[in-house]
Amino acid sequence: MSQPDNKQSDRGSFGNRLGFILAAAGSAVGLGNLWKFPYLTYKFGGGEGDQHGAGTFVFLYLLCIALVGLPLAIAEILIGRRAKKSPVGAFKALRPGSLWRAVGYLGVVTGFIILSYYTVVAGWATGYVAKSVTNEFANYESHVSNETVYDRILQETREAQQDQSISKEAALAQFGAKYPDSEAYDNAIKEKKLEAYPVALFSDFLSSPYKLIGYFLFFMLLTVGVVLGGVSGGIERWNRILMPALFLMLGILAVRVLTLPGGTKALTFLFKPSFSDISIEMVLFALGQAFFSLSLGMGALLTYGSYLKKNERIGASAVAIVSLDTTVALLASIVIFGSIFSYGLVMKGSGIGNLFTAIPVIFQHMPGGRILTILFYLLICFAALTSTVSLLEVVASTLIDERGMKRRTAVLTGAGVITLVGIPCALSFNVLSDFTLAGKTVFDLFDYFASNIALPLGGIGIALFVGWALTRAEKREELPELATPTFRVWNFLIKYLVPAAVAIVLIATLMGQI
Ligand code: TRP
Repeated sequence: MSQPDNKQSDRGSFGNRLGFILAAAGSAVGLGNLWKFPYLTYKFGGGEGDQHGAGTFVFLYLLCIALVGLPLAIAEILIGRRAKKSPVGAFKALRPGSLWRAVGYLGVVTGFIILSYYTVVAGWATGYVAKSVTNEFANYESHVSNETVYDRILQETREAQQDQSISKEAALAQFGAKYPDSEAYDNAIKEKKLEAYPVALFSDFLSSPYKLIGYFLFFMLLTVGVVLGGVSGGIERWNRILMPALFLMLGILAVRVLTLPGGTKALTFLFKPSFSDISIEMVLFALGQAFFSLSLGMGALLTYGSYLKKNERIGASAVAIVSLDTTVALLASIVIFGSIFSYGLVMKGSGIGNLFTAIPVIFQHMPGGRILTILFYLLICFAALTSTVSLLEVVASTLIDERGMKRRTAVLTGAGVITLVGIPCALSFNVLSDFTLAGKTVFDLFDYFASNIALPLGGIGIALFVGWALTRAEKREELPELATPTFRVWNFLIKYLVPAAVAIVLIATLMGQI
């Protein structure tokens, strides 16, 4: 947002529509697309076991984007531009004295929760910048013990022969017999290490509480610095170069992996739905991910909308933001799964590290790979920064507007609380990994609650507000460019389909839990 000041009189506005689209896309495009989407596609694609593919999940996700995400994005921007205020204030301004402002408060709470664990993952990206600078990916052999490789050989032999009783010695003897001399054998072992090291490196990284907390704090300070320093405008100018750069890089990587042998398996994995694997849990996660990835349901787009000029077209802007966001998520997944399939990487665990395990391998096999790895993780950090800044802006501007805090106090109070809450999230991967509730660590719980419950709830609130509290004339005034049939379709979706569909998914999930 170009103007850190929240007073109505001197609110800034975006110079043009492209500025708005890029800024809003900067909030939307982030770890949701690059980290979480490829992680969820892995989880719902069959994970470690039988990988039947993530086609059903991807299909559901795209459906949620089109039927829920896009109409809601329009609704949020519309509220913001009409009220010219941050979330809580916006509901108060448009319907004074009503309870609608609760939707605004819910959004702020959600912002707190998201920031606390989101910054942890942003910290991982920072750590991976450091790893690429020191070129840690090069000496992979030291990260994987021979024992790990032998276990892998055992597992593969048992799978290939469908016989669980084969002993380790027998498996290793069979493996060794395939190679004529010790040099060929050593090379084969090396190859196996190469397949296993990205995951080993990442789990090493996660097991260090100091590193995770250190990078987390670093990223938190960076976000606070940007928001406090009033340099958000500068960040946005950089965004105009760096977002296209990220796009370009993902595009090049996608072409690269798709032309490798086995790479196109990624397309089948991602885009061939079987529908036999569909579950209510999958629908819930697809919906939650649509909210999370588009920055919907907590007032971020609303806040951006408040800076949009009257004569700019909301519908077309929303379409542009949603398309950019979705393209990045799909590209990132193609690159990651293309790498996994063509390099035969060993995938162990939940897939939570896919963004960090699969990509360095591609660069390792490219000329200039070391520089490109550094650049890539820097771009990821930047994409994460534009998202954390947008989250902290919403939290801070509400504290300023509603609690009368000074900007500095608001930012520091918000960030302080978020940091305290974020530390247990960082520790969820090591010290606190056994501290679980319903099988979920603190990190998982926060992510689950924010994405799959709080954001959809906020979305229902926003849809009901725009659908039922605002008059048709008010909405028409903000969307003059939509042809009448288009307006009607949108209005129908926002009035009936969005609140009903999201409510049904939430209720079905709750019932499943009881
Ligand atoms: N959408 C961002 C991403 O995909 C994360 C994010 C930024 C966000 N602001 C938000 C999510 C507001 C929900 C609400 O990385």
